[in-house]
Amino acid sequence: MKQTLLTGLFLMMFGLTSCMNPKAEAKNDTTKNVLLYNEKYRPQVHFTPPAGWMNDPNGMVYFNDEYHLFYQHYPEKSVWGPMHWGHAISKDLVHWENQPIAFYPDSLGYIFSGSAVVDWNNTSGFGTADNPPLVAFFTYHNPEIAKQNKVEVESQGIAYSTDSGRTWTKYDHNPVVTNPGIRDFRDPKVFWHAASQKWIMSLASGQEMHYYSSPDCKSWDYISCFGEGYGNHDGVWECPDLFELPVANSAESKWVQIVNINPGGPYGGSATQYFVGDFDGEKFTTNQKEALWMDHGRDNYAGVTWADAPDNKRILIGWMNNWQYAGEKPCHIWSGAATFPRELGLVKDGDLYLLTSKPIEQIENLYGQQVVLDTFKIKQNELLSDKFSFAKSPVEIKLKFDQSNNTQLGFASKYGIRLKNEKGEYLLIGYDNVNKLFYIDRTNATEVVFSDKFASVHSIPYIINTPDIEWTLLIDNSSVEFFAADGRIVATTLFYPSESFDIIELFANNGAISVENVQISELKSIWN
Ligand code: FRU
Repeated sequence: MKQTLLTGLFLMMFGLTSCMNPKAEAKNDTTKNVLLYNEKYRPQVHFTPPAGWMNDPNGMVYFNDEYHLFYQHYPEKSVWGPMHWGHAISKDLVHWENQPIAFYPDSLGYIFSGSAVVDWNNTSGFGTADNPPLVAFFTYHNPEIAKQNKVEVESQGIAYSTDSGRTWTKYDHNPVVTNPGIRDFRDPKVFWHAASQKWIMSLASGQEMHYYSSPDCKSWDYISCFGEGYGNHDGVWECPDLFELPVANSAESKWVQIVNINPGGPYGGSATQYFVGDFDGEKFTTNQKEALWMDHGRDNYAGVTWADAPDNKRILIGWMNNWQYAGEKPCHIWSGAATFPRELGLVKDGDLYLLTSKPIEQIENLYGQQVVLDTFKIKQNELLSDKFSFAKSPVEIKLKFDQSNNTQLGFASKYGIRLKNEKGEYLLIGYDNVNKLFYIDRTNATEVVFSDKFASVHSIPYIINTPDIEWTLLIDNSSVEFFAADGRIVATTLFYPSESFDIIELFANNGAISVENVQISELKSIWN
């Protein structure tokens, strides 16, 4: 609390808003940066806005050796409000330079989520052949129309930049897609479909996906829809993404339609479902009737991918949060973080195509000290945190559990990892070898009960059919991202304990399990 007040005072004294660049300022005065990015719970290896509220990542595009990240932003307070697009730029996807706010609300409405592209062929005419423009697509959400209880609240607007995203001009004929009479009509994600030489927009429309096409980013025609009878419909469909991915170890490639949904997530509230199928420039088709879920934690929402990322990589970040309690969590000065960027892949298991995620390799840019441990056996509890002297967060832990004897007597019925503190608060990620499921227990992972929705144990059915299973945990000050089974299992989870989780232990219940290839890496703050 003391720190929070101090930071508040500091913000007032220096009049610092999110339009400014604390990192650049820090070159002259490191105390400023230390204060501003050092609040209790403030993530150190995840992007967060300097101050104010953040939700969805928006407009992610790579251009001229720079990654752009925009985000839903309310700069005045650390709660949701009239939406702007905040902006940051990175050379390596892990260290960020804050930029001035890109879009402010205007007479057409708040600036809701959307995407950005490089218009390489200058189809829009906003740039030149030699200097292709960046074009951003966003939803206008008009609060005045909402107040009148009319349905035509949302429409789509565009803006462009001809100086590598430093300044933006809203198109003077906005909106480019008007509302057809659908209350929730938002979050345009646009890409260039090379085969048909046109732009394709997927737009979340009620509980469906609507597709539009355009020759020039400005005039859009409705072409098709997808969704009825597919996947989960317990909430509003939001923040779509559509892209092609190669299937690992094959010559095949498939299209993935990401559909964020809120509520309706399998573990309560917000979550991301996806469908794997084909897209021919007009229609998305799939045999997959049931939803598949991209992240099995409770705190990864609104994730979408970068346009034009180098080496054809598909890199996704989400908003590390859940609308069930996003506005209530105990963060002051700032609220909201991006997940660590993840590289997506596709694997085929039997008849099923599955999305896989792994932390981007640039995580190695953050590595500090490292510890590698020899194979050892866990019987009951084995303290890991006393095996390395550096900070217990942020930290990356990689290890391999030996599953090969899992049917024999004496094999642990449950095993996993516990992050805890002296106060008895903890967060547990385990595998239940009897019921064949992962489980995450955060029933006692907060100092304050800020929402009755937060505490939970949830399970993720998964049969391990390999002799060992690799786990990667990315632990930051108030989050853990868990990756296992070559990226098939991913779970993002927040926690807000009274004191940091400085005790890390491995556990095995009713038996033992061996752990191999343990590698613990200190992660350096992205803000220093
Ligand atoms: C998803 C979402 C989007 C919307 C934005 C508003 O989290 O509801 O559908 O554009 O947030 O901030």
